[in-house]
Amino acid sequence: MTVTPAQDSANAPALVWDWPLRVFHWSLVLAVAGSFATHYAGIEWFDWHRRCGYVALVLAGFRLAWGFAGPRYSRFQSFLRGPRAVIDYLRGRQPYPSAGHNPVGAASVLVFLASLSIQAGTGLFANDEIANAGPFYGWVTQATSNRLTGLHDFNASILIALIVMHLAAIGWYDGVRRLGLVRAFWTGRKAGAEGIGSSRGALAIVIVTALVVALALAIRAAPEASVSFF
Ligand code: HEM
Ligand code: HEM
Repeated sequence: MTVTPAQDSANAPALVWDWPLRVFHWSLVLAVAGSFATHYAGIEWFDWHRRCGYVALVLAGFRLAWGFAGPRYSRFQSFLRGPRAVIDYLRGRQPYPSAGHNPVGAASVLVFLASLSIQAGTGLFANDEIANAGPFYGWVTQATSNRLTGLHDFNASILIALIVMHLAAIGWYDGVRRLGLVRAFWTGRKAGAEGIGSSRGALAIVIVTALVVALALAIRAAPEASVSFF
């Protein structure tokens, strides 16, 4: 029987999480924490709130694209399974996969992405009824901006709930079951898994650049908003 390199090095830690996915995650942590911190720090921090929000928006867009164009374990096709798989996994009928997301983690990627896109997307049209507004405020009526601001406020609580659940889940897997997920999401490597050949870094840079340019052009094209409410 021929022993393939994959079998031969079955227990050596193999690269599972590509570097663009890891940079995405830890940058997202900073951008989201920054968005909340700059909101609670006060109105004079609004410019930084906006900047952190733009970073979160670009990151959410990148992750969406990476779900189709990224390496194996980053692709939606490799980890998204139906509700049946999620229920089976929760009932303990499926073991934790040696590589990639488990079915519950996979579903949470989509929920996180939806909530992040809504949060950063609505922020573009939001206003604080004092002096600050997102760059696309001038494109919608005051009533629409107010409705989107309401969604921005409401979804911020959803996002916090998701983050708390995320940290609790990671705490359970790492603290109780000792799966070393944080370490793997930092180094990219997992033992006993079949690795990926390349991180496709150049492609990731092209995608992020395109998203940044598109956002910058849209902001430049938006009408100057008069946001003085007094
Ligand atoms: C993930 C990204 C973001 C997060 C987590 C976030 C979070 C928040 C939070 C917690 C508030 C306060 C809501 C409240 O009053 O209870 C807020 C307000 C606001 N945000 Fe964001 N935000 C994000 C992105 C953005 C972006 C991209 C913009 C626009 C460039 C923006 C513009 C605003 C504005 C204008 C307000 C004031 C609305 C108000 O006072 O109710 N946000 N944001
Ligand atoms: C603002 C806070 C956070 C947000 C919004 C967030 C979001 C996410 C998202 C979207 C994923 C899926 C990654 C993918 O796209 O495939 C993920 C995975 C992960 N996150 Fe976070 N995260 C946050 C904080 C943290 C923190 C503080 C830690 C560690 C202490 C952490 C550890 C992990 C790990 C280990 C995974 C991979 C789980 C697995 O192996 O399936 N996250 N996170």
